[in-house]
Amino acid sequence: MENTNLLLQRHSIRDFTDKEIDIELLKQIIAEAQRAPSYENSQPWKAYIATGETLKNIRKVHAEKVAARQRSYTEVVPPREWKEYPKNNVANYMKETEELIGADGIQDLLAQNAVLFNAPAIVYLTLPKDSSLYSAYDVGAFGYGILLSACHHGLGAVPAYELIRYPDEIRENFDISEEESILMGIAIGYPTPDKPLSTLVMSRNSLDNVLQINK
Ligand SMILES: Cc1cc2nc3c(=O)[nH]c(=O)nc-3n(C[C@H](O)[C@H](O)[C@H](O)COP(=O)(O)O)c2cc1C
Repeated sequence: MENTNLLLQRHSIRDFTDKEIDIELLKQIIAEAQRAPSYENSQPWKAYIATGETLKNIRKVHAEKVAARQRSYTEVVPPREWKEYPKNNVANYMKETEELIGADGIQDLLAQNAVLFNAPAIVYLTLPKDSSLYSAYDVGAFGYGILLSACHHGLGAVPAYELIRYPDEIRENFDISEEESILMGIAIGYPTPDKPLSTLVMSRNSLDNVLQINK
């Protein structure tokens, strides 16, 4: 029987068909994700969607920068050095990915990153500049809402650092205030069926390592 639990069904999709996404559906996904909880209902997120010609231009510029190995940066800095616990998880992620899709699959994955997964739409998420971690929690909840809503509507998605590591190519196409920082990008599209990069499902750490319950 098909799994109807969205949380278990969702995984990152990195291979999309050419099919465009209806603008009304994209708006519906954002509206649904806005049901995310946030501190004092502050809703610190904003969303910017690139699709059609805008995204084609961004993709072209991005691929050129990657090919030229142009130095990249993000407006919100990711961990430079992992603490031991997540570091072990990252090591497992690398190992597991190689086991599941092989060295060739990893080359495909990197190639797909360089062309922004050929997704028909990308949502960029911002939060107010120099926000506290509380606001990052809220925007993360909004982003996860987008992933789950996309899944609910038969779409696939991947949140990716790759999508936001050249912020200029995004800012050139939108009116994003200097008071906002680009936090994350989410590529969305219709999954290509039966391709390793749309069927890849990563494991999770054992509950014993994550959870303590006290009765
Ligand atoms: C903040 C963040 C950044 C990510 N960056 C990338 C990326 O640049 N490229 C990529 O292929 N996947 C990226 N991912 C996807 C993760 O690799 C993926 O979520 C993780 O391995 C768990 O797999 P799942 O989403 O399929 O469950 C990112 C995910 C998050 C949450």
